[in-house]
Amino acid sequence: MSKFSLEEKSAIITGGASGIGKAISTIFAQQGAHVHILEFNTESGKQAVEEIKNTGGQANFYQCDVSNHKQVKEIISTIAKNHNIDILVNNAGIAHVGNVENTEESDLDRVYNVNVKGVYNCIYATIPKMKAQGGGVIINMASIASSVGISDRFAYSMSKGAALTMTYSVAKDYVDSNIRCNCISPARVHTPFVDGFIKKNYPRKEAEMFDALSKTQPIGRMGKPEEIANLALYLCSDEASFITGTDFPIDGGFIKLNG
Ligand SMILES: NC(=O)c1ccc[n+]([C@@H]2O[C@H](COP(=O)([O-])OP(=O)(O)OC[C@H]3O[C@@H](n4cnc5c(N)ncnc54)[C@H](O)[C@@H]3O)[C@@H](O)[C@H]2O)c1
Repeated sequence: MSKFSLEEKSAIITGGASGIGKAISTIFAQQGAHVHILEFNTESGKQAVEEIKNTGGQANFYQCDVSNHKQVKEIISTIAKNHNIDILVNNAGIAHVGNVENTEESDLDRVYNVNVKGVYNCIYATIPKMKAQGGGVIINMASIASSVGISDRFAYSMSKGAALTMTYSVAKDYVDSNIRCNCISPARVHTPFVDGFIKKNYPRKEAEMFDALSKTQPIGRMGKPEEIANLALYLCSDEASFITGTDFPIDGGFIKLNG
């Protein structure tokens, strides 16, 4: 078997139909995994599955709002009837721009419900299955905002700090159950998520903002979704069997070289 193979493995990827999640779904399927995409957006979810199947991969789409506890439990139970759950990638996430004064209570709740409770919901539903089958791997998509101060990202930073510390907690509690849990902390990655918040928050200054955000990475550009997906592949493969409870910045030098 070649290195980084996911043959015979089954992977749940939330928000797996756009940006980083779509790149993870695509690359995991190329490496042999049966990919289960839990995605809010029906159109893009169906399309992502069709693209994977057209290139010979195995994939299913489940319309899902990760913030809905009952729905997540039902979908993961349905998947577990016919598959092991070897890998869970908690990737679904939403953005919010604002400091504490211009973050309304509803903004905080919305970001919490998807970025924090959504991660909890999926881990909660998956852990018993992983324990019963003898192990598994969990990846949480955190951010550089989990560990450094980023202007105007109050609610988002709160949520990504929680993604980081939930990673440590789960890694510790289930190390004896052969479950590895790590997180990935990207700097800016060029996805619809970034295009969306630039368009919403900086109207008529899109090109200027895109350029400014590219330059905040010392490497001079944003990351590509595939670059994040390749790290996720490594961390979910058996080659990473000694890695748990660790945060992996992938940031073009953002954290260590911006001084
Ligand atoms: N793009 C970046 O610069 C960047 C940087 C650091 C971290 N991240 C994180 O990476 C993850 C993916 O980001 P992206 O840029 O690919 O975003 P994206 O917006 O391109 O994709 C996110 C996907 O999640 C889905 N989604 C949103 N809410 C959902 C919900 N409640 N239930 C199910 N699915 C839902 C969306 O429909 C979309 O398909 C997010 O957690 C984000 O916070 C992104």
